[in-house]
Amino acid sequence: MRLTILGGGGFRVPLVYGALLGDRGEGRVTDVVLHDLDAGRLHAVSRVLAEQAAGVADAPRVTSTTDLDEALRGADFVFSAIRVGGLQGRADDERVALAEGVLGQETVGAGGIAYGLRTVPVALDIARRVARLAPDAWVINFTNPAGLVTEAMSRHLGDRVIGICDSPVGLGRRIARVLGVGDPSSAWIDYVGLNHLGWVRALRVGGRDELPRLLADPDLLGSFEEGRLFGADWLRSLGAVPNEYLHYYYFNRETVRAYREADRTRGAFLRDQQAAFYTRATDPGVSALDAWQRTRAEREATYMSENRRSAGAGEREAEDLSGGYENVALALMRAIARDERATLILNVRNRSTLSVLDRDAVIEVPCLVDAGGAHPVAVDPLPDHATGLVCAVKAVEREVLSAADSGSRATAVKAFALHPLVDSVGVARRLVDGYTAVHPSLAYLSKN
Ligand code: G6P
Ligand code: MN
Repeated sequence: MRLTILGGGGFRVPLVYGALLGDRGEGRVTDVVLHDLDAGRLHAVSRVLAEQAAGVADAPRVTSTTDLDEALRGADFVFSAIRVGGLQGRADDERVALAEGVLGQETVGAGGIAYGLRTVPVALDIARRVARLAPDAWVINFTNPAGLVTEAMSRHLGDRVIGICDSPVGLGRRIARVLGVGDPSSAWIDYVGLNHLGWVRALRVGGRDELPRLLADPDLLGSFEEGRLFGADWLRSLGAVPNEYLHYYYFNRETVRAYREADRTRGAFLRDQQAAFYTRATDPGVSALDAWQRTRAEREATYMSENRRSAGAGEREAEDLSGGYENVALALMRAIARDERATLILNVRNRSTLSVLDRDAVIEVPCLVDAGGAHPVAVDPLPDHATGLVCAVKAVEREVLSAADSGSRATAVKAFALHPLVDSVGVARRLVDGYTAVHPSLAYLSKN
Protein backbone atom coordinates (compact mmCIF):
# COMPACT_ATOMS: atom_id res chain seq x y z
CA MET A 1 0.00 0.00 0.00
CA ARG A 2 1.49 3.29 -1.05
CA LEU A 3 0.68 6.58 0.63
CA THR A 4 1.72 9.85 -0.97
CA ILE A 5 1.83 12.89 1.29
CA LEU A 6 1.53 16.27 -0.44
CA GLY A 7 3.07 18.89 1.80
CA GLY A 8 5.46 16.11 2.75
CA GLY A 9 7.93 18.58 4.24
CA GLY A 10 5.22 19.82 6.62
CA PHE A 11 5.57 19.93 10.35
CA ARG A 12 2.75 17.46 11.07
CA VAL A 13 4.08 14.70 8.80
CA PRO A 14 5.90 12.94 11.67
CA LEU A 15 2.55 12.59 13.44
CA VAL A 16 1.19 10.69 10.45
CA TYR A 17 4.30 8.57 10.15
CA GLY A 18 4.18 7.82 13.89
CA ALA A 19 0.63 6.53 13.48
CA LEU A 20 1.74 4.37 10.52
CA LEU A 21 4.57 2.90 12.59
CA GLY A 22 2.04 1.73 15.14
CA ASP A 23 -0.09 -0.02 12.52
CA ARG A 24 0.90 -3.68 12.31
CA GLY A 25 -2.24 -4.91 10.58
CA GLU A 26 -2.68 -6.49 7.19
CA GLY A 27 -2.99 -4.09 4.27
CA ARG A 28 -0.99 -1.45 6.13
CA VAL A 29 1.00 1.25 4.39
CA THR A 30 4.40 -0.09 3.31
CA ASP A 31 5.61 2.86 1.22
CA VAL A 32 5.43 6.56 1.94
CA VAL A 33 6.22 9.11 -0.75
CA LEU A 34 6.76 12.65 0.48
CA HIS A 35 6.15 15.45 -1.99
CA ASP A 36 6.98 19.07 -1.33
CA LEU A 37 8.02 22.06 -3.38
CA ASP A 38 10.85 22.74 -0.93
CA ALA A 39 13.68 20.21 -0.95
CA GLY A 40 15.14 21.61 2.27
CA ARG A 41 11.93 20.95 4.19
CA LEU A 42 11.74 17.45 2.72
CA HIS A 43 15.26 16.80 3.93
CA ALA A 44 14.48 17.99 7.48
CA VAL A 45 11.29 15.92 7.77
CA SER A 46 12.96 12.86 6.21
CA ARG A 47 15.56 13.04 8.96
CA VAL A 48 12.84 13.11 11.62
CA LEU A 49 11.10 10.09 10.05
CA ALA A 50 14.35 8.15 9.80
CA GLU A 51 14.91 8.61 13.53
CA GLN A 52 11.32 7.61 14.26
CA ALA A 53 11.77 4.43 12.22
CA ALA A 54 15.07 3.43 13.83
CA GLY A 55 14.70 0.01 15.42
CA VAL A 56 11.13 -0.54 14.13
CA ALA A 57 10.95 -3.73 12.11
CA ASP A 58 9.21 -3.31 8.73
CA ALA A 59 8.88 0.44 9.12
CA PRO A 60 7.25 1.92 6.00
CA ARG A 61 9.87 2.89 3.41
CA VAL A 62 10.13 6.63 2.85
CA THR A 63 11.14 8.35 -0.35
CA SER A 64 10.77 11.98 -1.31
CA THR A 65 10.45 14.02 -4.46
CA THR A 66 9.70 17.54 -5.64
CA ASP A 67 7.98 16.21 -8.78
CA LEU A 68 4.23 16.11 -8.22
CA ASP A 69 3.33 13.75 -11.06
CA GLU A 70 5.99 11.29 -10.01
CA ALA A 71 4.67 11.42 -6.44
CA LEU A 72 1.12 10.67 -7.57
CA ARG A 73 1.76 7.76 -9.91
CA GLY A 74 1.04 4.44 -8.23
CA ALA A 75 -0.44 5.98 -5.08
CA ASP A 76 -3.23 4.10 -3.29
CA PHE A 77 -3.85 6.98 -0.90
CA VAL A 78 -2.96 10.62 -1.28
CA PHE A 79 -2.89 12.84 1.79
CA SER A 80 -3.06 16.46 0.87
CA ALA A 81 -1.73 18.76 3.59
CA ILE A 82 -0.32 21.73 1.74
CA ARG A 83 -0.08 25.36 2.78
CA VAL A 84 -0.07 27.68 -0.22
CA GLY A 85 2.03 30.72 0.70
CA GLY A 86 3.46 29.02 3.77
CA LEU A 87 3.17 30.38 7.29
CA GLN A 88 4.13 33.84 6.06
CA GLY A 89 0.95 33.63 4.00
CA ARG A 90 -1.03 32.68 7.11
CA ALA A 91 0.47 35.57 9.06
CA ASP A 92 -0.47 37.96 6.22
CA ASP A 93 -4.01 36.56 6.11
CA GLU A 94 -4.37 37.30 9.80
CA ARG A 95 -2.68 40.71 9.78
CA VAL A 96 -4.55 42.26 6.84
CA ALA A 97 -7.93 41.35 8.35
CA LEU A 98 -7.06 42.52 11.85
CA ALA A 99 -5.87 45.85 10.43
CA GLU A 100 -9.41 46.28 9.05
CA GLY A 101 -10.86 45.45 12.47
CA VAL A 102 -12.28 42.06 11.44
CA LEU A 103 -11.23 38.57 12.49
CA GLY A 104 -7.84 37.52 11.19
CA GLN A 105 -7.67 33.77 11.59
CA GLU A 106 -6.40 30.82 9.62
CA THR A 107 -9.70 29.32 8.47
CA VAL A 108 -12.57 31.49 9.74
CA GLY A 109 -13.82 34.81 8.37
CA ALA A 110 -11.74 37.08 6.15
CA GLY A 111 -8.46 35.23 6.78
CA GLY A 112 -10.07 31.93 5.80
CA ILE A 113 -11.47 33.45 2.60
CA ALA A 114 -8.04 34.77 1.61
CA TYR A 115 -6.54 31.38 2.36
CA GLY A 116 -9.25 29.71 0.30
CA LEU A 117 -8.73 32.03 -2.65
CA ARG A 118 -5.03 31.18 -2.64
CA THR A 119 -5.50 27.47 -2.17
CA VAL A 120 -8.43 26.48 -4.40
CA PRO A 121 -6.59 26.91 -7.74
CA VAL A 122 -3.72 24.75 -6.47
CA ALA A 123 -6.08 22.12 -5.03
CA LEU A 124 -7.96 21.96 -8.35
CA ASP A 125 -4.71 21.36 -10.21
CA ILE A 126 -3.80 18.55 -7.82
CA ALA A 127 -7.26 16.99 -8.17
CA ARG A 128 -7.01 17.03 -11.96
CA ARG A 129 -3.62 15.35 -11.83
CA VAL A 130 -4.83 12.69 -9.38
CA ALA A 131 -7.80 11.97 -11.64
CA ARG A 132 -5.42 11.46 -14.55
CA LEU A 133 -2.43 9.73 -12.91
CA ALA A 134 -3.93 7.82 -9.98
CA PRO A 135 -7.64 7.50 -10.78
CA ASP A 136 -8.20 4.73 -8.24
CA ALA A 137 -6.48 6.53 -5.37
CA TRP A 138 -8.40 7.89 -2.39
CA VAL A 139 -7.56 11.45 -1.50
CA ILE A 140 -7.66 12.45 2.15
CA ASN A 141 -7.68 16.19 2.36
CA PHE A 142 -6.51 18.09 5.39
CA THR A 143 -5.51 21.18 3.52
CA ASN A 144 -7.42 24.06 5.04
CA PRO A 145 -9.95 25.54 4.71
CA ALA A 146 -10.74 21.82 4.64
CA GLY A 147 -14.45 21.87 3.76
CA LEU A 148 -14.05 24.36 0.92
CA VAL A 149 -10.91 22.68 -0.46
CA THR A 150 -12.55 19.25 -0.32
CA GLU A 151 -15.54 20.59 -2.21
CA ALA A 152 -13.27 22.09 -4.87
CA MET A 153 -11.43 18.78 -5.31
CA SER A 154 -14.67 16.79 -5.38
CA ARG A 155 -15.52 18.43 -8.70
CA HIS A 156 -12.79 16.29 -10.26
CA LEU A 157 -12.67 13.39 -7.84
CA GLY A 158 -16.28 12.97 -6.75
CA ASP A 159 -16.53 10.96 -3.55
CA ARG A 160 -12.93 9.78 -3.81
CA VAL A 161 -11.84 12.86 -1.91
CA ILE A 162 -12.69 12.94 1.78
CA GLY A 163 -11.88 15.85 4.07
CA ILE A 164 -10.74 15.38 7.64
CA CYS A 165 -10.39 17.49 10.75
CA ASP A 166 -9.45 16.64 14.31
CA SER A 167 -11.77 19.14 16.00
CA PRO A 168 -15.08 17.21 16.03
CA VAL A 169 -13.53 14.03 17.38
CA GLY A 170 -11.60 16.04 20.00
CA LEU A 171 -14.81 17.76 21.07
CA GLY A 172 -16.68 14.45 21.31
CA ARG A 173 -13.85 12.99 23.37
CA ARG A 174 -13.86 15.92 25.81
CA ILE A 175 -17.63 15.72 26.27
CA ALA A 176 -17.47 11.96 26.80
CA ARG A 177 -14.67 12.36 29.33
CA VAL A 178 -16.41 15.03 31.39
CA LEU A 179 -19.53 12.86 31.44
CA GLY A 180 -17.49 9.92 32.72
CA VAL A 181 -18.11 7.75 29.66
CA GLY A 182 -15.52 4.99 30.03
CA ASP A 183 -15.04 4.24 26.36
CA PRO A 184 -15.56 7.39 24.27
CA SER A 185 -15.59 5.35 21.07
CA SER A 186 -18.77 3.62 22.30
CA ALA A 187 -20.62 6.95 22.27
CA TRP A 188 -22.63 8.15 19.29
CA ILE A 189 -21.83 11.79 18.66
CA ASP A 190 -24.62 13.63 16.93
CA TYR A 191 -22.57 16.32 15.19
CA VAL A 192 -23.24 18.17 11.96
CA GLY A 193 -22.41 21.39 10.13
CA LEU A 194 -19.55 22.58 7.97
CA ASN A 195 -15.86 22.17 8.79
CA HIS A 196 -15.03 24.35 11.83
CA LEU A 197 -18.75 25.24 11.99
CA GLY A 198 -20.62 22.38 13.62
CA TRP A 199 -22.53 21.52 16.79
CA VAL A 200 -22.75 18.46 19.04
CA ARG A 201 -26.48 18.13 19.65
CA ALA A 202 -26.45 14.80 21.52
CA LEU A 203 -24.04 12.20 22.81
CA ARG A 204 -25.72 8.82 23.05
CA VAL A 205 -24.43 5.95 25.10
CA GLY A 206 -26.46 2.77 24.84
CA GLY A 207 -29.16 4.77 23.07
CA ARG A 208 -29.47 7.31 25.89
CA ASP A 209 -28.60 10.98 25.30
CA GLU A 210 -26.17 12.07 28.02
CA LEU A 211 -25.77 15.69 26.83
CA PRO A 212 -28.70 17.08 28.86
CA ARG A 213 -26.92 15.86 32.00
CA LEU A 214 -23.88 17.95 31.05
CA LEU A 215 -25.90 21.04 30.14
CA ALA A 216 -27.78 20.88 33.45
CA ASP A 217 -24.69 20.68 35.62
CA PRO A 218 -22.74 23.93 36.18
CA ASP A 219 -19.86 22.08 37.86
CA LEU A 220 -19.44 19.71 34.94
CA LEU A 221 -19.65 22.58 32.47
CA GLY A 222 -17.04 24.55 34.41
CA SER A 223 -14.64 21.63 34.38
CA PHE A 224 -14.71 21.26 30.63
CA GLU A 225 -12.91 23.28 27.98
CA GLU A 226 -15.83 24.31 25.77
CA GLY A 227 -17.87 24.96 28.93
CA ARG A 228 -15.35 27.62 29.94
CA LEU A 229 -14.85 28.89 26.40
CA PHE A 230 -18.55 29.53 25.68
CA GLY A 231 -19.88 29.80 29.24
CA ALA A 232 -22.51 27.58 30.83
CA ASP A 233 -25.38 29.97 30.16
CA TRP A 234 -24.73 30.22 26.44
CA LEU A 235 -24.37 26.47 26.06
CA ARG A 236 -27.67 26.02 27.85
CA SER A 237 -29.31 28.58 25.59
CA LEU A 238 -28.03 26.75 22.54
CA GLY A 239 -28.88 23.31 23.93
CA ALA A 240 -25.79 22.05 22.11
CA VAL A 241 -22.02 22.29 22.31
CA PRO A 242 -20.49 24.15 19.37
CA ASN A 243 -17.14 23.42 17.78
CA GLU A 244 -14.49 25.64 19.38
CA TYR A 245 -14.23 27.62 16.13
CA LEU A 246 -17.75 28.96 16.71
CA HIS A 247 -16.25 31.06 19.47
CA TYR A 248 -15.15 33.38 16.67
CA TYR A 249 -18.79 33.91 15.75
CA TYR A 250 -20.46 34.00 19.15
CA PHE A 251 -17.76 36.15 20.77
CA ASN A 252 -16.45 37.90 17.69
CA ARG A 253 -15.83 41.34 19.20
CA GLU A 254 -13.93 39.95 22.17
CA THR A 255 -11.78 37.72 19.99
CA VAL A 256 -10.96 40.44 17.48
CA ARG A 257 -9.97 42.74 20.32
CA ALA A 258 -7.77 40.10 21.96
CA TYR A 259 -6.12 39.24 18.65
CA ARG A 260 -5.46 42.88 17.82
CA GLU A 261 -3.85 43.38 21.22
CA ALA A 262 -1.65 40.29 20.98
CA ASP A 263 2.04 40.81 20.23
CA ARG A 264 2.00 38.38 17.36
CA THR A 265 -0.62 36.46 15.47
CA ARG A 266 -0.65 32.67 15.60
CA GLY A 267 0.68 32.52 12.03
CA ALA A 268 3.57 34.86 12.84
CA PHE A 269 4.43 32.85 15.96
CA LEU A 270 4.41 29.59 14.02
CA ARG A 271 6.34 31.11 11.11
CA ASP A 272 9.20 32.07 13.44
CA GLN A 273 9.02 28.88 15.46
CA GLN A 274 9.05 26.64 12.40
CA ALA A 275 11.87 28.53 10.72
CA ALA A 276 13.99 27.75 13.77
CA PHE A 277 12.90 24.10 13.64
CA TYR A 278 13.83 23.60 9.98
CA THR A 279 17.23 25.16 10.59
CA ARG A 280 17.92 22.89 13.56
CA ALA A 281 16.53 19.77 11.92
CA THR A 282 18.98 20.02 9.03
CA ASP A 283 21.99 20.50 11.34
CA PRO A 284 23.90 17.19 11.20
CA GLY A 285 24.95 17.62 14.83
CA VAL A 286 21.38 17.75 16.12
CA SER A 287 18.73 15.07 16.57
CA ALA A 288 15.99 16.09 14.17
CA LEU A 289 13.45 14.06 16.13
CA ASP A 290 14.37 15.80 19.35
CA ALA A 291 14.09 19.20 17.66
CA TRP A 292 10.68 18.21 16.29
CA GLN A 293 9.37 16.97 19.63
CA ARG A 294 10.35 20.14 21.45
CA THR A 295 8.83 22.34 18.79
CA ARG A 296 5.65 20.31 18.76
CA ALA A 297 5.19 20.50 22.53
CA GLU A 298 5.52 24.27 22.43
CA ARG A 299 3.19 24.55 19.46
CA GLU A 300 0.46 22.52 21.08
CA ALA A 301 0.76 24.16 24.46
CA THR A 302 0.01 27.53 22.87
CA TYR A 303 -2.82 26.37 20.61
CA MET A 304 -5.44 29.13 20.08
CA SER A 305 -4.03 30.72 23.20
CA GLU A 306 -5.19 34.32 22.72
CA ASN A 307 -8.71 33.13 22.15
CA ARG A 308 -8.67 30.91 25.19
CA ARG A 309 -7.08 33.54 27.38
CA SER A 310 -9.59 36.19 26.38
CA ALA A 311 -12.40 33.78 27.20
CA GLY A 312 -10.84 32.64 30.47
CA ALA A 313 -10.88 29.10 29.10
CA GLY A 314 -7.33 28.29 30.15
CA GLU A 315 -4.96 26.30 28.01
CA ARG A 316 -5.90 22.94 26.59
CA GLU A 317 -5.38 20.09 29.02
CA ALA A 318 -2.19 18.11 28.56
CA GLU A 319 -3.94 14.80 27.90
CA ASP A 320 -5.84 16.45 25.09
CA LEU A 321 -2.99 18.25 23.40
CA SER A 322 -2.61 16.08 20.37
CA GLY A 323 -5.78 16.70 18.43
CA GLY A 324 -5.34 13.32 16.84
CA TYR A 325 -5.87 14.14 13.19
CA GLU A 326 -3.32 11.48 12.27
CA ASN A 327 -5.53 8.94 14.01
CA VAL A 328 -8.55 10.09 12.04
CA ALA A 329 -6.51 9.72 8.86
CA LEU A 330 -5.29 6.26 9.79
CA ALA A 331 -8.74 5.06 10.86
CA LEU A 332 -10.14 6.29 7.55
CA MET A 333 -7.44 4.55 5.49
CA ARG A 334 -7.87 1.31 7.39
CA ALA A 335 -11.63 1.29 7.01
CA ILE A 336 -11.28 1.78 3.25
CA ALA A 337 -8.29 -0.52 2.66
CA ARG A 338 -9.53 -3.40 4.81
CA ASP A 339 -13.24 -2.82 4.42
CA GLU A 340 -13.44 -2.49 8.21
CA ARG A 341 -16.57 -0.58 9.05
CA ALA A 342 -15.92 2.54 11.05
CA THR A 343 -17.92 5.61 11.99
CA LEU A 344 -15.99 8.84 11.60
CA ILE A 345 -16.93 12.51 11.38
CA LEU A 346 -15.74 13.55 7.92
CA ASN A 347 -16.16 16.16 5.21
CA VAL A 348 -18.13 14.66 2.36
CA ARG A 349 -20.73 15.65 -0.20
CA ASN A 350 -24.09 16.30 1.41
CA ARG A 351 -26.32 14.15 -0.79
CA SER A 352 -29.62 14.57 1.05
CA THR A 353 -28.26 14.89 4.60
CA LEU A 354 -29.06 18.57 5.19
CA SER A 355 -32.09 19.40 3.08
CA VAL A 356 -31.25 23.13 3.00
CA LEU A 357 -28.06 22.43 1.01
CA ASP A 358 -27.65 20.91 -2.43
CA ARG A 359 -26.22 17.43 -3.00
CA ASP A 360 -22.70 18.56 -3.87
CA ALA A 361 -22.16 20.86 -0.92
CA VAL A 362 -19.44 19.41 1.27
CA ILE A 363 -20.52 19.17 4.91
CA GLU A 364 -19.01 17.72 8.08
CA VAL A 365 -21.05 14.83 9.40
CA PRO A 366 -20.72 11.32 10.90
CA CYS A 367 -20.12 8.82 8.11
CA LEU A 368 -20.06 5.06 7.83
CA VAL A 369 -16.82 4.14 6.12
CA ASP A 370 -16.03 0.92 4.28
CA ALA A 371 -14.25 -0.13 1.10
CA GLY A 372 -16.81 1.85 -0.87
CA GLY A 373 -15.84 5.11 0.83
CA ALA A 374 -17.56 7.41 3.31
CA HIS A 375 -21.34 7.46 3.46
CA PRO A 376 -22.99 10.22 5.48
CA VAL A 377 -25.56 9.03 8.00
CA ALA A 378 -28.99 10.58 8.33
CA VAL A 379 -29.09 13.29 11.00
CA ASP A 380 -31.77 15.54 12.45
CA PRO A 381 -32.03 18.96 10.82
CA LEU A 382 -30.15 21.87 12.41
CA PRO A 383 -32.09 24.52 14.32
CA ASP A 384 -32.75 27.73 12.35
CA HIS A 385 -29.92 29.78 13.85
CA ALA A 386 -27.38 27.10 12.86
CA THR A 387 -28.95 26.62 9.43
CA GLY A 388 -28.59 30.36 8.92
CA LEU A 389 -24.86 30.31 9.62
CA VAL A 390 -24.24 27.15 7.62
CA CYS A 391 -26.08 28.51 4.57
CA ALA A 392 -24.38 31.91 4.80
CA VAL A 393 -20.91 30.40 5.03
CA LYS A 394 -21.60 27.86 2.29
CA ALA A 395 -22.73 30.74 0.04
CA VAL A 396 -19.41 32.47 0.76
CA GLU A 397 -17.51 29.28 -0.10
CA ARG A 398 -19.37 29.11 -3.39
CA GLU A 399 -18.33 32.68 -4.20
CA VAL A 400 -14.72 31.72 -3.47
CA LEU A 401 -14.98 28.76 -5.86
CA SER A 402 -16.57 30.99 -8.46
CA ALA A 403 -13.85 33.67 -8.07
CA ALA A 404 -11.19 30.98 -8.42
CA ASP A 405 -12.86 29.83 -11.67
CA SER A 406 -13.38 33.23 -13.22
CA GLY A 407 -10.56 35.32 -11.74
CA SER A 408 -13.17 37.97 -11.01
CA ARG A 409 -12.26 40.55 -8.42
CA ALA A 410 -15.91 41.53 -7.99
CA THR A 411 -16.73 37.95 -7.08
CA ALA A 412 -13.91 37.92 -4.56
CA VAL A 413 -15.32 41.12 -3.03
CA LYS A 414 -18.72 39.42 -2.89
CA ALA A 415 -17.24 36.45 -1.02
CA PHE A 416 -15.79 38.71 1.68
CA ALA A 417 -18.82 41.00 1.83
CA LEU A 418 -21.30 38.15 2.32
CA HIS A 419 -19.40 36.63 5.22
CA PRO A 420 -21.21 37.07 8.55
CA LEU A 421 -17.96 38.26 10.18
CA VAL A 422 -17.25 41.00 7.60
CA ASP A 423 -19.49 43.92 8.46
CA SER A 424 -19.28 46.19 5.42
CA VAL A 425 -18.91 46.01 1.67
CA GLY A 426 -16.35 48.80 2.02
CA VAL A 427 -14.28 46.60 4.30
CA ALA A 428 -14.61 43.73 1.82
CA ARG A 429 -13.23 45.92 -0.98
CA ARG A 430 -10.28 47.02 1.13
CA LEU A 431 -9.63 43.41 2.12
CA VAL A 432 -9.38 42.37 -1.52
CA ASP A 433 -7.01 45.28 -2.16
CA GLY A 434 -4.94 44.39 0.91
CA TYR A 435 -4.74 40.70 0.16
CA THR A 436 -3.93 41.07 -3.52
CA ALA A 437 -1.16 43.50 -2.56
CA VAL A 438 0.56 41.02 -0.23
CA HIS A 439 -0.14 37.68 -1.93
CA PRO A 440 1.44 37.20 -5.36
CA SER A 441 -0.67 34.04 -5.76
CA LEU A 442 -3.81 36.22 -5.87
CA ALA A 443 -2.65 38.02 -9.01
CA TYR A 444 -5.18 35.93 -10.92
CA LEU A 445 -7.99 38.08 -9.46
CA SER A 446 -7.47 40.59 -12.22
CA LYS A 447 -10.78 40.49 -14.09
CA ASN A 448 -13.82 42.62 -13.30
C1 G6P B 1 -6.92 22.40 14.60
C2 G6P B 1 -7.76 22.45 13.35
C3 G6P B 1 -6.87 22.53 12.14
C4 G6P B 1 -5.99 23.73 12.26
C5 G6P B 1 -5.19 23.66 13.53
C6 G6P B 1 -4.42 24.94 13.75
O1 G6P B 1 -6.19 21.23 14.65
O2 G6P B 1 -8.61 21.37 13.24
O3 G6P B 1 -7.69 22.60 11.01
O4 G6P B 1 -5.12 23.82 11.15
O5 G6P B 1 -6.02 23.49 14.63
O6 G6P B 1 -3.47 24.72 14.75
P1 G6P B 1 -2.15 25.59 14.78
O7 G6P B 1 -1.33 24.94 15.83
O8 G6P B 1 -1.56 25.53 13.40
O9 G6P B 1 -2.61 26.97 15.14
MN1 MN C 1 -9.50 21.43 11.23
